[in-house]
Amino acid sequence: MTTITRREVITGGAALAAIGASPLTAGEGDQPAAAANGTVAVRLIVNGQPRELTLDVRVTVLDALREHLHMTGSKKGCDQGQCGACTVHIEGERVLSCLTLAVAAQGKRIDTIEGLAGADGQLHPMQQAFIDQDGFQCGYCTPGQIMSAIACVREGHAKTDADIREYMSGNLCRCAAYPNIVASIKQARDSMELG
Ligand code: FES
Ligand code: FES
Repeated sequence: MTTITRREVITGGAALAAIGASPLTAGEGDQPAAAANGTVAVRLIVNGQPRELTLDVRVTVLDALREHLHMTGSKKGCDQGQCGACTVHIEGERVLSCLTLAVAAQGKRIDTIEGLAGADGQLHPMQQAFIDQDGFQCGYCTPGQIMSAIACVREGHAKTDADIREYMSGNLCRCAAYPNIVASIKQARDSMELG
């Protein structure tokens, strides 16, 4: 997963320079300048829709989604990169949104659980598979599991049960629905490969 941690940005001088310089410096490419109050204009393409926000430079993609766009499908579990509940896709790759700054996603395509179903309400094969295979109990981890699982299949890391367990190991389930999650991914893998 591609991540830029808040810890690196907030506490690391070198990391701060590397990550913060381009988004926060006026006149460099299309990166926005921070206002005097520490906010910055951020443009995100969320599920295909351009969204313009004015955010504190420290706001993560997860908080931008949940607190500013009121899209609460992506869950905040640990908020420190250890559970996978916040997984979204940025430019098609699975990313821990709690560890990714919104300014680092400037202009990028973000896909979330809310955007998976078709306009006609037809569920993505992975969503349907989690229902068919009882791939969840409380459901809190499920949006992250599904986003990660789709990426896992696309990456070619869902060929075997062992592969699925390995490449899904960043997504924890406190209800221990793991056998059903593996079964869900295998069902969806087959229909995604056919479709
Ligand atoms: S909330 Fe992001 S990894 Fe747990
Ligand atoms: S279904 Fe409850 S945490 Fe996974």
